[in-house]
Amino acid sequence: MTELEAVYARHSVRAYLDKKIEAETAKKLNDTVLECSAAGGLHLQFLPDAGNTFGRLLSRVMGLGSAPAVIACVGKDGPGLEERIGYWGEKAVLSAQSLGLNTCWAGTFSPKGVPCEIAPGEKLAIVIAVGYGKTPGTPHRGKSADQVSSGAADGPEWFRRGVELALLAPTAINQQKFEFVLEKDGSVTSVDRRGPFSSVDLGIVRYHFDLARKEAGLKPLWE
Ligand SMILES: Cc1cc2nc3c(=O)[nH]c(=O)nc-3n(C[C@H](O)[C@H](O)[C@H](O)COP(=O)(O)O)c2cc1C
Repeated sequence: MTELEAVYARHSVRAYLDKKIEAETAKKLNDTVLECSAAGGLHLQFLPDAGNTFGRLLSRVMGLGSAPAVIACVGKDGPGLEERIGYWGEKAVLSAQSLGLNTCWAGTFSPKGVPCEIAPGEKLAIVIAVGYGKTPGTPHRGKSADQVSSGAADGPEWFRRGVELALLAPTAINQQKFEFVLEKDGSVTSVDRRGPFSSVDLGIVRYHFDLARKEAGLKPLWE
């Protein structure tokens, strides 16, 4: 499965089979997570055992307690951390999808229960649940291209395609509070329309948008 196919196949999955991730698959995902971590200047960690990430009460409420593994999204606290976590974390999400796994970004979890390393000055911003889903998940209704972009009317095809791919990205509570603006000089601005975890969302949608840039043979904008 290519990364673009993974964009279409991915849906958030909250109920997982009681099945450990096979060693070979876990190694491939771990390698990608380490690559993403290095590329983003982050401290992302693939944890094959989710430990107590989804504490009892939370898991009962959210259902994510069945996830066998998680990716802990850790990085040096400072401006732009959440956006970079969204961008590089989403690359890991699409890689997991390509490996036959399912995922769910999770802003609600028990920070003390995550068996990850957090060095001084670092922050655990969010986690991503990973495992074999009981189902592949389902598509959700979302906003239209006009609601999340402007300036596209006479713009290039890659801009419209970027917005189309961004609309398929996960966002917290499906809020899709982002906007891509094609400026008069041809540059692109991405805007955070503010909501819970919307800065992580912005990084995630930038990654999807950049897939359209790469598809058109252009340099990604936020790598
Ligand atoms: C930053 C972020 C935080 C999220 N937090 C949670 C969460 O705490 N619990 C949960 O069940 N889903 C969470 N989600 C999943 C969203 O609800 C989901 O992506 C959205 O409803 C769209 O559905 P889809 O991913 O299937 O396209 C989160 C998603 C993102 C991007």
